[in-house]
Amino acid sequence: MDRYYVLGNPIAHSRSPRIHSAFAAALGQELSYEARLVPMEGFAREIEFLKQEGFRGCNVTVPFKEQAFRAADRLSDRASLAGAVNTLSYDGGILSGDNTDGEGLARDLACLGVPLEGRSVLLLGAGGAARGIVASLLLGHPRRLHIANRTVSRAGALADLARSSPMAGSCDVSSSGFEEAEGDFDLIINATSASLSGEIPPFPGSLLHEGVFAYDLMYAPEDTPFVARARSLGAGAADGLGMLVEQAAESFRIWRGVRPDTADLKDRLRQEMRRG
Ligand code: ATR
Repeated sequence: MDRYYVLGNPIAHSRSPRIHSAFAAALGQELSYEARLVPMEGFAREIEFLKQEGFRGCNVTVPFKEQAFRAADRLSDRASLAGAVNTLSYDGGILSGDNTDGEGLARDLACLGVPLEGRSVLLLGAGGAARGIVASLLLGHPRRLHIANRTVSRAGALADLARSSPMAGSCDVSSSGFEEAEGDFDLIINATSASLSGEIPPFPGSLLHEGVFAYDLMYAPEDTPFVARARSLGAGAADGLGMLVEQAAESFRIWRGVRPDTADLKDRLRQEMRRG
């Protein structure tokens, strides 16, 4: 039986085993998928373990995505731009790295009926999560991508990286601090970790109004502070639970060559999360 797993630290909270088991069951595929806690200094040894044990692949989560990027023999374009890998495949002695987070976001936005093409997008944050989704945002051909961050120089560096990437096309890429973000945005994406401390990045509230869609990469049983603020100002909003399921589906496709349906599982996970 083909074996896969997710590795991280911490890992106990991971929903990936639940999600991949559901995909396999729905498609009648025999595979195993487990979760492994990796010691903070143990990533290199973990890769040896993966190879020796004959695992076919693994998902990589916090804090090992950059180390997985460096460990891969081959990288996809989107993993190269992300500087991080969340999906490793092991085949014929070659370790291939990909990043499915951005594709997960793009697919969830499509399911929500939120287009990227020709639209103006504000990306809040310039850390690992933001960098992980930039390639897929550009591939959606937005008219404008503005990156705003607390540390302005990080926003500038990510904007430079985006601008010089092969995916940039004719997109107008710019950057600033939160307070200076201005324009008429169709989509505002929160890729900061501010929600972890119950905070909302201090971008101008006037940017959120009816007709704007707000997407929080974080998810929670109740509305995140960002989602609650957006809804209270009349904007559409969603949290990142759908992206979680979609990035897993893309990993499954890479490994198994078939893309699972995601809609039912998103609904079921939402209900399970609300029940606690
Ligand atoms: P991740 O992998 O989750 O992106 P990260 O690389 O540490 O983690 O990046 C966290 C992001 O959230 C950064 O953009 C960070 O801003 P800085 O670059 O200025 O550090 C942002 N962030 C974290 N806490 C925040 C807060 N309370 N308000 C606004 N932005 C915050």
